[in-house]
Formats: sequence, C-alpha cells, structure tokens
Amino acid sequence: MLRGTWIPLPSGLRPSVLGALIGLAVVLAIASSSFARLKPIARAMIEALETVNQIGLGLAIEDYEASERAARSLRNQAKNLKKIDIEIFGLNPARNAEFDGYLTAMEETADVIAAAAKKEDAHAALEGLAQLFQSACLACHREFREPAKLLRPPVLYMMNFFNAWREMNRGLAMNDFALVERQAREVATASRTLQRDSAIESTFDIHEPQEREEFEGYLRHLTQRAGEIERAAVEGDAKKATWAMRKMWEDGCISCHEKFR
Ligand code: HEC
Ligand code: HEC
Repeated sequence: MLRGTWIPLPSGLRPSVLGALIGLAVVLAIASSSFARLKPIARAMIEALETVNQIGLGLAIEDYEASERAARSLRNQAKNLKKIDIEIFGLNPARNAEFDGYLTAMEETADVIAAAAKKEDAHAALEGLAQLFQSACLACHREFREPAKLLRPPVLYMMNFFNAWREMNRGLAMNDFALVERQAREVATASRTLQRDSAIESTFDIHEPQEREEFEGYLRHLTQRAGEIERAAVEGDAKKATWAMRKMWEDGCISCHEKFR
C-alpha cells in the first residue's frame, strides 16, 4: 500500500509542489513502517484499497502504465493472500476454498483491468473496476466480514480516520489545499465527538476511568493536530501542513495504537 506508493510527477512541477512531495514521501515512509504493525488481514485490505486507488488515479490522469502496474500488483496481492490459511485471520478454516474463490475473482478482474489499461481503454478499465468491487471486494465482505461482525464501530471510526489521512496526503501531493482542509476538519470533528466518556466506553469498550482519560488524551492530540493541519491548509502552507500531519500521525495515531490496539 503506502510502501512503494507511486506518485505521478507531471512535468513542469512547481517547487512548492515538489516540496510537498518530499514531505509526503517522509510521511509515507513513517506510515509504512507503522502499518507493518496492523493486523495482517487489515494490512492486506488497506493495501488492496490503496492499490485500487492507484488504478483510479492512473485512469484519471491518463497514465495507463501506472494503472496497469497497479492492477498487476493487485493481482499479486490476491495471489499471496491465497497462500495464507484463513484461520490466521480468525476465520473458519473449513471455508478456506470459498474465501479463495473470491480471491480468484479478484485476480481475474485485476487481469481484465490490466489488459484494458494496456490497451488504453479507460471505459473497459472502469468496467473492470466495477466488476472487481462486485465479484471480489463486496462479495467477500458480505460473506466473511459482515457476519463475523468484523465491521465493528471502532473499525468504522478508524477507517474514517485512515481515509481522511490518505486523502490529506493526496491533497498535499496535488496541491489541493481545499481537500486537505476539509479532511482535517473531518478528523477534528470525529475525534472531538469521540472525546466523551460515554462514547469511549460504548465504542471502544474501555471502562477504567484512568484508561479512558489516557485514551481521551490521545484524541485531544489528534484534534489539536488536525486543527493545525486545517489552519496550514487555509494558509496554503504545505510545509507546515506536512509537519502537522507527521505530528498527528506520531502523537495521535501511533501513540494510541501502541497503548490500546
Ligand atoms: C477473500 C475475501 C476478501 C476480498 C476479496 C476482499 N476483502 Fe476486504 N476484507 C475482508 C475481511 C475478512 C475484512 C475484515 C478484516 C478485519 O477487520 O479483521 C476486510 C476488510 C476490509 C477493509 C477494512 C479494514 C478493516 O480492518 O476492517 C477494507 C478497506 C477492505 N477490506 C477493502 C477491500 C477492497 C478494496 C477489496 C477489493 C479490491 C477487498 N477488500 C477484497 C475480506 C476480503
Ligand atoms: C485514541 C486512540 C486512537 C487514535 C488517536 C487512533 N486510533 Fe486507530 N485504532 C485504535 C484502536 C483501539 C483500534 C483497534 C480497533 C478494534 O479493532 O477494535 C484502532 C484500529 C485502527 C485501524 C484498523 C486496523 C487494525 O489493525 O485494527 C486503522 C486503519 C487505524 N486504527 C488507523 C488510524 C489512523 C490513521 C489514526 C490517526 C489519524 C488513528 N487510527 C488514530 C485507537 C486509536
């Protein structure tokens, strides 16, 4: 996913954009080492999502080679997942073949997308993407994720944080400060909403008052850093925004994960 993330470098890049990209590379380097600590299936899934985004980005800027490369990488991700016994993911080992069936669908649709991108056929590639969602991602989630209640509220909250964080990176890379600002505000709002004893208790199942206080402390860091990112984005200051994002990652995301995940 973030490891080896490919960032398009259009010609005629302005120095400020280049600065943001270098900052982004730093943020991503930090992120990739920390994502190594996620649960294996969550990591694989976030990687898959990131790769799908790369396919989409390549199509959007008509960099078909990038889309093709990403589609091939997605295919390999599916292939590698097949080698793992699903018991490791906490799933019923008797359903291994069924699980692998969805991964085969993922490989096949990734192939369709790669072939379409090679022919520079955006329409066929988009159709392949729709097919990928239907026959692989959503189909497997319906069977394996929802029934197992894996889509629990804390994970939902966290996926929101993660998506916002990723969008902020994208905003920085594209010099789209409005996007960075919007996403930072979203993190701040969600984080503030969680900063209530009742929310922490019911969503994250943390009952010890002292632990709740500590948890809340990390959320306060998150809110504060998100506010800094938002202000930097309003000022159009990529350097400051990058710095605040890095601090948000360290003081908010990682610190809390080390203690509570
Ligand atoms: C073979 C089954 C399977 C396929 C195919 C699959 N997923 Fe998943 N996905 C899962 C399971 C199981 C979970 C729940 C993991 C957990 O939370 O423990 C999950 C969770 C996720 C998550 C949330 C991470 C989390 O921790 O809950 C994202 C994002 C995701 N999948 C994206 C995708 C995308 C995008 C695709 C298609 C390119 C895809 N998945 C294909 C089984 C699958
Ligand atoms: C206040 C504590 C806290 C903060 C701050 C926090 N997280 Fe989390 N995060 C958690 C907990 C607890 C879990 C485990 C949830 C579960 O599985 O029940 C988690 C899980 C996750 C997951 C799901 C994958 C997995 O392995 O469980 C992702 C992705 C994630 N966090 C991303 C982020 C990002 C990105 C940020 C910062 C923008 C962030 N988190 C900030 C506490 C936090």
